[in-house]
Amino acid sequence: MSKKAFGIDIGGSGIKGAPVHLGKGELAADRLRLATPQPSTPDAVADTVAELVSSFEIEDGMPVGVTFPAVIQDGVALTAANVDDAWIGTDVDALLTERTGHDVFVVNDADAAGIAEMTFGAGRGTTGVVQVITLGTGVGSATFVDGKLVPNTELGHLLLHGDSAEKYMASSIREKEELDWGTWAGRLQEYFSHLEFLFSPTRIIVGGGVSKKHKKFLPLLDLTTEIVPAELRNEAGIIGAAVLARAEQKARRSR
Ligand code: BGC
Repeated sequence: MSKKAFGIDIGGSGIKGAPVHLGKGELAADRLRLATPQPSTPDAVADTVAELVSSFEIEDGMPVGVTFPAVIQDGVALTAANVDDAWIGTDVDALLTERTGHDVFVVNDADAAGIAEMTFGAGRGTTGVVQVITLGTGVGSATFVDGKLVPNTELGHLLLHGDSAEKYMASSIREKEELDWGTWAGRLQEYFSHLEFLFSPTRIIVGGGVSKKHKKFLPLLDLTTEIVPAELRNEAGIIGAAVLARAEQKARRSR
């Protein structure tokens, strides 16, 4: 069996995918990006995922990992914070397995990015409680205890000023409200201080597209916890989904 799996990252505006070299934690070919259909219903998104998969020559038996911005339990989406409500209750694993003809394993997007960081990036070799927080349209979280994922922690929805924290400090809010870096960092300070108080993590890893501009905001934060930028950036979701798909396929086959 080759050490490859396919990874797909479903986001609000784009669906990106590429084969992943699992030994190196790198894309094995250029990734392809297709626009997320609007409205982003299960049926329309499944068609786009199938189109993306058929653009590559994926060998038989290669697992496909897919990230999705929702709580995922046993392949079923239980929430829909930034996607169409029709996803709630959808068996995403079954739908995409049927449409693509490959073994599909779906995972929360932040959990996938977290797995990639823990395996190949800023979380390698860490012990204790490590939190990967992704700042994007929404805010995602992945929590690890001694390297083991506690799935679906959804810490972007911690209450801050009476509402989901992500509505106050997501990267999309900084853009929408045209906040300068200092003002936004003030909001992040409130959020990360709260997180630190609740979990006493040993390290916080900040991901999402904005993490490539980490020098503009991370130095402004005053925390006891070590806080570092993600290393895999844009490709973390694709890589983490592929890693997980391979592990899940093995586990299912041995059952
Ligand atoms: C969703 C999470 C997701 C995060 C980042 C949140 O609104 O509830 O499931 O991980 O956005 O996309």
